[in-house]
Amino acid sequence: MVSRMDGRLKVTGQARYGLDRTMPGMVYGYVVLSTIAHGEIAAMDVTAAKSARGVLGVYSPFDPLELSTPASPMMGETWVPLQNREVAYYGQPIGFVVAETFEQARDAAALIEVTYHQRPALTSLRDGLATAEDAPPAFNGSPQTLTVLASGVESIEDALAASPVVVEATYATASQHHAAMEPHSAVAVWDDEGLTVYSGNQASDLQAAELAGALGEDLSSVRAVNPFVGGAFGGKGRTSAPAFLAAAAARALGRPVKAALTREQVFTATAGRAETMQKISLGAERDGTLVAVRHDSWCTTAADRSFVEPTSFGTSREWYATPNLAISQKMVPLHIPQTTFMRAPGEAPGSFALESAMDELAVALGMDPIELRLRNNSTAPPGKDLQWSSKHLDECFRIGAAQFGWADRSPRGRTDGDWLVGMGTATAMFPALRFPATVEVTLRADDSAVVATSGADPGTGLLTVLSLIGAESLDIAPDRVTPRLGDSAFPAGGMSGGSTATASAGTAIMIAATKVIDDLQTLASSPGAPFEGREVTYADGRVHAGGRAMTFGELLREMDHSSISARGSSAPGEEMTKHSFSSFGAQFCEVRVHRWTREARVSRMLGVFDAGRVINEKTARSQLAGGMIWGVSAALHEGLELEANGRFANADFANYLIPVNADIPEIDVHFVQYPDTLHNAVGAKGLGEIGVVGMAAAIANALYNATGIRVRHIPIRIEDLL
Ligand code: MOS
Repeated sequence: MVSRMDGRLKVTGQARYGLDRTMPGMVYGYVVLSTIAHGEIAAMDVTAAKSARGVLGVYSPFDPLELSTPASPMMGETWVPLQNREVAYYGQPIGFVVAETFEQARDAAALIEVTYHQRPALTSLRDGLATAEDAPPAFNGSPQTLTVLASGVESIEDALAASPVVVEATYATASQHHAAMEPHSAVAVWDDEGLTVYSGNQASDLQAAELAGALGEDLSSVRAVNPFVGGAFGGKGRTSAPAFLAAAAARALGRPVKAALTREQVFTATAGRAETMQKISLGAERDGTLVAVRHDSWCTTAADRSFVEPTSFGTSREWYATPNLAISQKMVPLHIPQTTFMRAPGEAPGSFALESAMDELAVALGMDPIELRLRNNSTAPPGKDLQWSSKHLDECFRIGAAQFGWADRSPRGRTDGDWLVGMGTATAMFPALRFPATVEVTLRADDSAVVATSGADPGTGLLTVLSLIGAESLDIAPDRVTPRLGDSAFPAGGMSGGSTATASAGTAIMIAATKVIDDLQTLASSPGAPFEGREVTYADGRVHAGGRAMTFGELLREMDHSSISARGSSAPGEEMTKHSFSSFGAQFCEVRVHRWTREARVSRMLGVFDAGRVINEKTARSQLAGGMIWGVSAALHEGLELEANGRFANADFANYLIPVNADIPEIDVHFVQYPDTLHNAVGAKGLGEIGVVGMAAAIANALYNATGIRVRHIPIRIEDLL
């Protein structure tokens, strides 16, 4: 268990983020945003802005930068700004001012006069329900609407009608924003070799590719660098508006350009999490065995329909064993900022609905909510033949119940002075995934090693984990391994997203390490080498033969090599045809609601997770505790408030509520560790996102236990508990 290697740099302010770069001749850009939600820009008067002091360039759809929308946008989304005069949401980037100083750029931006042909804007999920559209297949190609019926059953309605106990309710979750500490920003500089962009993101190679596409440049002349990233959570998976604009303006002006969104701009000029409405029907036998699960979802999406929050698909499709299952997913296009992946996309809001409904079913049955969940534990996703490669959800609940004191829970809560105290639980699941990744492992003559891949460490601890897997694979101490991440010049390392990075890059490290050790052994026994013609083995960082050993550094020095490198690649493969893969968890919380003020406090939390092998317990625990705090935030704090004109009323940290330390109690995180080598050689199943899953429902369920009030929307506010 080790501390994150970049921790000290970060907490002492020595870590240099993208925006911390300065360079000679650098100038500053300021992004201009729309002030209507729907319409066309009729004119932009930039005369005053252009003649303002220090201004070097004013760009708009009338006087655009050379940027284009790629023909095949990544995952159906493109965020390239200033492409036309259409305004599809309030706060859309519509201009870019570059000046000698930040203040000059900002002041000049305020001088731009925009005239719009305004059109009526549709901004509310409820108003848009009538025009809801079927969601396209999910990002992995699976249909988001599907029905699985037991033989002889005609319809999900019939299955529900035949169920002795039925629970049916509609749940709602608010629109949210990643609100990472580091605002989206970039420093872009061109030289003889091309463009370098310093900007926080989740995959430097993908960012370089996206920039090259938008700029019409060859990929080999675009480099994206992001040694440190101040939080991402899905919101930095794509290249941001300031990165596109800074890169194009730097090319036009021949000067390095720095651009950053203000905190308020981040809420609209980058994408957030959709608002959802979800209707769930659960049919069960009197002993709790599920007969039918129906989950119909609606989510908001931007006018370009670029992203669907897959709540039904991400949750009910796989969670519980049921002979009859029907899920549907609809999207409601609105004049709102773009939506995208945000920590546990699908599962986070989806689990609020499903796990609240499971609690309601437990109440209806008079059954313990854990017993109900275990009764319906699945060995494979419903309707699929492929069994879970490993699943220890029952053990998570068993350990969690014992550690949390679940046996002391009364179905009607308890009181402690003026406080009503309740306990709640929920299941957590998140698919175990992998992306293609390539890693280069280098052994150096000074007996150190380097593990390099493009990727990114957006605060997850990936850098530390890569050094640990590198050390293990090379059989040397971790402090001899330098991990290199966050530069598109390194081999393409996949994305820090989808809870995949450890499994993806880790497997590639193991393959690269095996190769470089092979090459080292070949070198050691080659003609003229110290072990010429002998059978050479490798262990403990040394080559061995005939009772003699040399460290790899000694061998390389002896042979006048400064280093030896090999690359390894891994990608999902045959295993996908053999098993289903997921991480699992059991969430527990205790809440206290004040009898008179109705203030709700979370007083204890515990998460027990089956995420396969955990490489580094300390950073893993931070990931999961962070996710569980997001769950508190979703349940009790977070929600964007949209005014009728499409403007967010609370797009800043004073009004967009997120928990502070005083809101968060002691958090316990426990792992059951069963390495899942059916999924990948490292045995890790992924734990970046599962921490948030289920926690909002666990809190709502605990509030019900404490007060008898069932709240079916989040965030839950004081007025909901009156
Ligand atoms: Mo995550 S929402 O895949 O960054």
